[in-house]
Amino acid sequence: MNRITAKTLAASLIIAGLALVSLAHCSREPASPPSAPQAAAVEPAKETTLRNVTGRTIAYKIFPVGSPMKTEHREIAPGAIDRFPTATSLEIEFHSGDRDIVYSLEAGSPYSFRVDEGTTIELFLGSHGRADAEDLAPWVPTPQPVVDRMLELARVTVADVVYDIGCGDGRIVITAARKYGARGVGIDIDPNMIDESNKNAETAGVTQLVRFEAMDATKAEFSEATVVALYLLPESNDLLRPIFERQLRPGTRLVSHNYAIPGWEHKQVHHETVQDELGSEHQIYAYIR
Ligand SMILES: C[S@@+](CC[C@H](N)C(=O)[O-])C[C@H]1O[C@@H](n2cnc3c(N)ncnc32)[C@H](O)[C@@H]1O
Repeated sequence: MNRITAKTLAASLIIAGLALVSLAHCSREPASPPSAPQAAAVEPAKETTLRNVTGRTIAYKIFPVGSPMKTEHREIAPGAIDRFPTATSLEIEFHSGDRDIVYSLEAGSPYSFRVDEGTTIELFLGSHGRADAEDLAPWVPTPQPVVDRMLELARVTVADVVYDIGCGDGRIVITAARKYGARGVGIDIDPNMIDESNKNAETAGVTQLVRFEAMDATKAEFSEATVVALYLLPESNDLLRPIFERQLRPGTRLVSHNYAIPGWEHKQVHHETVQDELGSEHQIYAYIR
């Protein structure tokens, strides 16, 4: 999530005069370029969703891959979610800046239009298509060396309660429990990630120290936290900031992978760049509430 840090996952491809962008941000991963139509296989319909997280109405056209005669011309209002029950990939085209963008959308996956760094609109992979909850970021794991350094920078000890907002497979709170004996709580909207977190905690032998909850983090209560870990998109950090200000006690340490917390520049106590196992660079921002 370099956007998915808002751009740790970003790469641009220019194909046939059309701009195709694939962002690995938090794995902000935009959609992928369209591929050649495949022989029809009978697949059950799944729901592909498109969420508009920008403040603008976006016009786009969409059709099943290989069936341009079924093209629909649509507009999506700010905050809306469009739903497409489909058994096949969809091809989407929209205009951003001075480019026409074309992506292939996987059947059953959630996507979000977001404003990319600057002002252009991009389409990114999301984590869910629920209308009753924000999509804070897609699932992209923090590499273990980055997890280790985040916990060091947060000065985690046995006395701490570490919360991970959007915990994925639970690696941050499990590492805090395993290395420091800290208690931890992981919150994720995806019940499959919570199942995986529970299994990982069992394997690590830390089930007595950690718990995982499947819920929308924006509705969670985390005032008992002494340390908060984040790997979410910048706009999600912005959305959570007032919740942190309401709920977290002064002195709570926060560490955020790749994205800063907008509006908390005065609370930032550290920023550094770390490398993962493959030599890719990651940012860590540390704050004290
Ligand atoms: C980039 S991953 C980070 C995973 C983990 N914190 C790490 O650093 O390895 C973001 C996670 O946020 C979760 N998420 C997205 N929207 C959410 C919401 N509204 N409430 C709770 N979790 C959410 C996703 O399911 C995903 O697992």
